[in-house]
Amino acid sequence: MKRILAVLVGPLLALVCASGHAQQDAATLTEQPEGDAQRGRLVFGPCRSCHFTDARAGHGNGPNLYRIFGKVAGKQAGFDYYSEPLRAAQFVWTPRVLDAWLAAPMQVLPGTTMMSPGVPDAAQRADLIAYLQLVSVRETDDAGEP
Ligand code: HEC
Repeated sequence: MKRILAVLVGPLLALVCASGHAQQDAATLTEQPEGDAQRGRLVFGPCRSCHFTDARAGHGNGPNLYRIFGKVAGKQAGFDYYSEPLRAAQFVWTPRVLDAWLAAPMQVLPGTTMMSPGVPDAAQRADLIAYLQLVSVRETDDAGEP
């Protein structure tokens, strides 16, 4: 038990100490800007030419993004155009992972076939992620786009 605690406490202490010395770094590690889904709907505009967010709409030029969080990357049935790196990917899409990727998709995942500059602005990425979370809790989008 002591050993487990040491394993857990070590990195935590390192984080706390780091935050004392370099608050900025710690903040960027632990904080994500609060996103606004309504603004995010507009940020998602350019993505819409390739991605649907309604489950029933299926895939477009890009895979469907309904309930994308929690899915293993590059594995959606019925989408046949994943790149090698995404096909082989072993990670799950979380808001944080998507945030990192969308900062510069082609640099972060060399070989991706997603021809998009992503969203370089961190606040806009947070808005976009909030929007994707919102559309994922809807049953359908019968009520129209939120
Ligand atoms: C020109 C079409 C296009 C645009 C624009 C585009 N995407 Fe994509 N997207 C793709 C393609 C193609 C893939 C598959 C990429 C691969 O396999 O490397 C993809 C993959 C993804 C995935 C991974 C899905 C999965 O099943 O693993 C996410 C998430 C995603 N895009 C989000 C976005 C967001 C958010 C935007 C807007 C900033 C965007 N995309 C813009 C075509 C596009």
